[in-house]
Amino acid sequence: MSGGLVSAPKGFAPSAVSITRYLAQVEQQQRALGRSPVSLAGGKPNPAVYDRDEYNQLAFAHIERMAARGSVAGIQNRFQLKQYLSNYTGSECHQAIRDDFLAGYQNDFNVQMSAGRLLPTNGNTQAISLLLQMYNKLGIAVSVFTPSPTYAGVLSPLQYAKNVRPFAVNIDENGMVPHDLEEQIQTAKKTGFHSAFIYLVPDGDNPSGITLSQERRDALYEVAARNGVFILEDTPYGYLRLEEGEEYPALMAANDPENIVMHAFSASKIGVPDERVAWLHVPNEWKLANGQVFPLYNEVVAAFAAQSLIHSAMSLAGFNGQMYNDAGEFVGLWPQARKRSAFYRNNRDVLFDGLQTALAGHPDLFQLSPKPKSGFVFCLKMPGLQKRTGMDAVELARWLIEKYEVIVTPMAGFYPEGAPVGSGSDEIRFAYSAASPEELRQGVDRLVSGLQTAYSINLG
Ligand SMILES: Cc1ncc(COP(=O)(O)O)c(C=O)c1O
Repeated sequence: MSGGLVSAPKGFAPSAVSITRYLAQVEQQQRALGRSPVSLAGGKPNPAVYDRDEYNQLAFAHIERMAARGSVAGIQNRFQLKQYLSNYTGSECHQAIRDDFLAGYQNDFNVQMSAGRLLPTNGNTQAISLLLQMYNKLGIAVSVFTPSPTYAGVLSPLQYAKNVRPFAVNIDENGMVPHDLEEQIQTAKKTGFHSAFIYLVPDGDNPSGITLSQERRDALYEVAARNGVFILEDTPYGYLRLEEGEEYPALMAANDPENIVMHAFSASKIGVPDERVAWLHVPNEWKLANGQVFPLYNEVVAAFAAQSLIHSAMSLAGFNGQMYNDAGEFVGLWPQARKRSAFYRNNRDVLFDGLQTALAGHPDLFQLSPKPKSGFVFCLKMPGLQKRTGMDAVELARWLIEKYEVIVTPMAGFYPEGAPVGSGSDEIRFAYSAASPEELRQGVDRLVSGLQTAYSINLG
């Protein structure tokens, strides 16, 4: 017997998992078959740069520190404090934990935030999803402006946000193009959509790998502010700075005179991914076109409570604990971040430089995106791929797994609805984060061998 529904509702489309989740399964299946694929697909942190056990110790050590300094009034006994923090509490989490995060993050990034606008979420994935849900609650049709291509994790929750329509904004080698954004905002307005927010990953965008320059940030901010559109700044890679000695632009939240930036920080790429530590900072209110006020912060907290109720205090305390040195002094997260950045810098250089050298002789066939200054990924465009090889990027990716045991990500799944038909069919994404330098070198060799065969050419 089937379930209660006689037929699917009109317009029903099965939900799709993102390409990155799918490829994680493919890798597992390949290993189960006894094969040893090199994965250049998953933009995952490398286990070599985090220490699971140490994280737990840091959590305990930090809670002991909190007990010693009397962070929670009336509880100085460290055992009692652990018991207290691990219990049910408000969904915004304990004030003391919020204050600790805030002090550290503000100091690290020279940004001003407010504890009364801050909510821990289950990764930035949940933050994005919660914000999209707000428009269902409001019951208004809205437009969200995303780079084209964009992070697949913003496209997946869009499947559940019926009131939200993505508008694809073109990117160039410097990221989202301001005049395209302006045009899309005007198109959305004309077609009756309230403009909700612009989704940006200013540091180490996924999949483009681009870090927006200060100039580009300012230009996009100007378009947003002039049109009264919010920005959602998704920042999982802000602590990863792969260029030594280079000055990095400020967080968009740190330059926000109009109070239009919603900031989502995720610790997944700089901490331990399954701890699900992330913090969302939103305005207390949205002012609606009809003059009404939507109490955004309270609504997001209520939606979080309906899904997750509380957060793990140990996870949050472990992240805060990373901001202290062995002597127990506050040093912020940069000392840890610099070590991790050095590791990823080396990985990036192995993969990017290896491919750049091998593909340099054929700029008409192979076009790498700019060398990333942050984040875990970059892309390769292969104009005329289908004509030259008889395969599109999905078929090429399958073939590369089968014949050359190397996994890459075809990019069609990163393009929002509204992007030109066929977008991504000649592009693949590489991640350099999760493999070892040795595996990355092997990956380059396997990929280059595969491309030589597919194109019937010799590569350097
Ligand atoms: C741009 C971007 N945002 C958000 C996430 C999701 O991270 P999490 O939900 O672990 O915070 C990722 C992970 O790959 C990402 O690349």
